[in-house]
Amino acid sequence: MSHKAIFVQPGGGYDRVIVGTSEAPRPEAGEITVRLRANSLNYHDFAVVSGMWGPSEPRIPMADGAGEVVAVGSGVTEFAVGDAVVSTFFPDWLAGEPLIEGFATVPGDGVDGYAREMVTARATSFTHAPKGYSHAEASTLTTAGLTAWRALMADGKLKPGDSVLIQGTGGVSIFALQFAKMAGATVIATSSSDAKL
Ligand SMILES: NC(=O)c1ccc[n+]([C@@H]2O[C@H](COP(=O)([O-])OP(=O)(O)OC[C@H]3O[C@@H](n4cnc5c(N)ncnc54)[C@H](OP(=O)(O)O)[C@@H]3O)[C@@H](O)[C@H]2O)c1
Repeated sequence: MSHKAIFVQPGGGYDRVIVGTSEAPRPEAGEITVRLRANSLNYHDFAVVSGMWGPSEPRIPMADGAGEVVAVGSGVTEFAVGDAVVSTFFPDWLAGEPLIEGFATVPGDGVDGYAREMVTARATSFTHAPKGYSHAEASTLTTAGLTAWRALMADGKLKPGDSVLIQGTGGVSIFALQFAKMAGATVIATSSSDAKL
């Protein structure tokens, strides 16, 4: 069955974004189908759509998608119909040291992303959303939130009393601000906007 989807044309450009359709077939072994409800907008998505990092072929943009599971393929034990989920930025890097370089496997860049109503994908393309989060809130976590988490919190890097400088008030910086405050660090923030400061 066809569902509405947004496509950026090769090379990108706002005037070349079109609405079309994409398929979400019944999930095969190891796959799930997700009804997407929210995306978050990262600098990365802006770069792909504007043409700064335009795709080489027609591409469905948006690296982050959150929604609910509507069908589960055989062998998938992690998810059930009705579960709230959010997409993963590196569906092939689930643990340990990074094995991947570049954006060839990143949704909305090297492969199709989540500016669409429905997707069938490998179960590793999604993870559970935190309980109590709206889809919009959950959709902010796995790109910007995880980037800040890796930078500051992974491997127990940040200690109480440390100082953290955040540049600007974008998605990554605001997550970093919250993690650093929770860890007992002092935060120094820059912004072009006095109102935001
Ligand atoms: N989103 C991600 O997960 C992710 C992952 C890896 C790397 N990155 C990189 O991390 C950076 C931030 O990403 P983001 O998604 O948080 O971007 P964003 O939401 O667009 O925020 C960027 C912020 O940086 C500030 N800024 C813009 N131009 C600046 C300049 N010339 N000098 C100093 N500050 C400036 C602005 O803050 P004010 O308006 O307060 O001035 C702006 O809001 C980008 O370079 C992005 O490519 C992002």
